[in-house]
Amino acid sequence: MRLIKVKNYDEMSERAAMLIAAQVQLKPDAVLGLATGSSPVGTYQRLVDWYKAGKLDFSEIRSVNLDEYAGLKGTDPQSYRYFMEDNLFSHVNIAKENTYVPNGTAEDLVAECGWYDANIKKLGGIDLQLLGIGNNGHIGFNEPADCFIEGTHLVDLEESTIQANARFFDSPDEVPRQAVTMGIGSIMRAAKVLLIASGETKAKLIEHAFAGPVTPQIPATVLKLHPDCTVIYCE
Ligand code: F6R
Repeated sequence: MRLIKVKNYDEMSERAAMLIAAQVQLKPDAVLGLATGSSPVGTYQRLVDWYKAGKLDFSEIRSVNLDEYAGLKGTDPQSYRYFMEDNLFSHVNIAKENTYVPNGTAEDLVAECGWYDANIKKLGGIDLQLLGIGNNGHIGFNEPADCFIEGTHLVDLEESTIQANARFFDSPDEVPRQAVTMGIGSIMRAAKVLLIASGETKAKLIEHAFAGPVTPQIPATVLKLHPDCTVIYCE
């Protein structure tokens, strides 16, 4: 695991975008595992800028997102599908049919989870997985638990996650209580993992978590076992 501490959010975003751009150039039909939230916004902005400057081509890229809120349609501005369209997909030449975000309104969410895993397999697995980290150590929406969950699953969000994500909603009551998330297995099978985090609390969490043992109580610690994981973070 490479831990790279940088000066600020801009430098974190620049470095992360450079690694993703390198992946896109090395393998034009790569499968990118993508995240939402505040952490990757600056990274996506740079990828959009470089695309507009003619430096990147997403026409053959495939993408799979980590998670989606249960019950939100992709057209809902709070949904993660909407976030991806707004921050990346609609600004670059990725083919919409090659972008996958779990369907949080599927009638049968268990079947949707099974389909999502089968699809990742069909795509040939993830070449580069981008991750953020929750204040409780979650990756994707794999919340602290007694064991790591392998596959895509429906999860009850922790109160701390609901509170943290309430900033994107008019009130905490509007934050969905459940989400569909990729499991630890798909994340760990990605050829490369890139985790980004910013802010004093997250910087402390990263330094504490990655110095300690692997435990499902801090899900991100599993990344210590990944053969090619880069963590770029700042205070
Ligand atoms: C988002 C995701 C979450 C976030 C994490 C950090 O798709 O999977 O694990 O990465 O909650 O969120 P931010 O970046 O908003 O602090």
